[in-house]
Amino acid sequence: MNPVAEPMITDSELAMLERQVWNALESGDLSRLRVLGYGEITLVLGWPPDEPRVACKRLPVFPGTARAAAYGATIAAYIEELRQREVNVLTSEWRTVAFGGSVAAYVIQPVLDDDTLVPNLLRADPGTGSRVLADIISVIANAVDVAVGLDGQVANWAFVDGRLRYFDVTTPMLNDSEGRTRLDLGLLVRPLPAPVRTIVRRAVAPGIVAHFHEPRYVLVDMIGNLLKERLDAVIDPAIALANRYAEPPIDRQEIERFYRSDARTWEALLRLRRADRWWQRHIRRRAYPFLLPGPIDR
Ligand SMILES: Nc1ncnc2c1ncn2[C@@H]1O[C@H](COP(=O)(O)OP(=O)(O)OP(=O)(O)O)[C@@H](O)[C@H]1O
Ligand SMILES: [Mg+2]
Repeated sequence: MNPVAEPMITDSELAMLERQVWNALESGDLSRLRVLGYGEITLVLGWPPDEPRVACKRLPVFPGTARAAAYGATIAAYIEELRQREVNVLTSEWRTVAFGGSVAAYVIQPVLDDDTLVPNLLRADPGTGSRVLADIISVIANAVDVAVGLDGQVANWAFVDGRLRYFDVTTPMLNDSEGRTRLDLGLLVRPLPAPVRTIVRRAVAPGIVAHFHEPRYVLVDMIGNLLKERLDAVIDPAIALANRYAEPPIDRQEIERFYRSDARTWEALLRLRRADRWWQRHIRRRAYPFLLPGPIDR
C-alpha cells in the first residue's frame, strides 16, 4: 500500500467520520453520510460530506489492533501482487481509528469522477467503453490464478486519463503457498447472525473466494453482472471478447443461469445481515455496527 507520508485524510477527520458513522448506526438515519456507492460488502463514504475529496471504505469492525493490522498487511501485499501483474491499482491508504473498545478500519482513496467509472462510461461512450471492456477482460485473463483473485465486475474499474484503474481492494484475494486464502473470513462473516456465521465461514465463503481465483469464473461473473447494471447491450460483445480466453466458450444461456443463481446467493446473505441488524436493535437493544446497503435491484 502507499506510504502514508501525507495522508489523504487526517486522524481527526477520520475520527469525525467514524463518529458520524456511529451516530448513523445508532439512529438508523444515514442521511448525514455521503454515500458514494456500495458493493456487496463495503459501503463507500465520501469525505468531507459536502464536497468529497476522498472515498472511505469502512470494513467490518475489528475486535483489536492486531487483527486490523494483519488485514491491512494482507491488503498491502495484495496491491503489490496486483501491480506486479500489471493491474493498475488506484492509490489506496489503510487507516484505522479506535472507537469504543473496537477498531474501525478504512481503505482511503481519492474520489473518482462519476464519468470515469466504467459502468457510466459504457452507457455514455460505447466506443471507448468497448475498448475498455476489452482491456478489463485481458487484465483478468492475465492476472487471475491460484495465487491471486480479483472481482472483475465493471463497477470495480475506472478509466482515468486513458488508463484503466482497479479500485476494489477491500477484499484481498490472495492465497498462501498451500493454496489457502489469506482473507480473514471470520471478519467478513461478522455482520451475519451468530448461528450461521461458522457455517458460512467454513462451508460457503471459501468456495466463493476460490471461484475468484479462476479466470473463467471471474469473466462469467463480470459478464453476468452486466445484467444487474442493466447493460444488456454490452453482453454479447463481452462474451465474444471473453471467448478469446475462456475454455470451454461462454454463451448467453450460461450467463443468465449464472446470474440468477448468484443474485440469489448475495440476496440471501444480505437478508441474513438485515435479520441480524433487526435482532441486535430490537431484541439486544444495541447498535448493529455495520453499514448495509438499501434495497438492491438485481
Ligand atoms: N474511489 C472511489 N471514488 C468514487 N466512487 C467509488 C470509489 N471507490 C468505490 N466507489 C463506488 O463505490 C462502489 C463500491 O466500491 P468497491 O467496489 O470498492 O466496494 P465493494 O464492491 O463493496 O467491495 P467488496 O465487495 O470487495 O467489499 C463502486 O462500484 C463505486 O461506485
Ligand atoms: Mg466492488
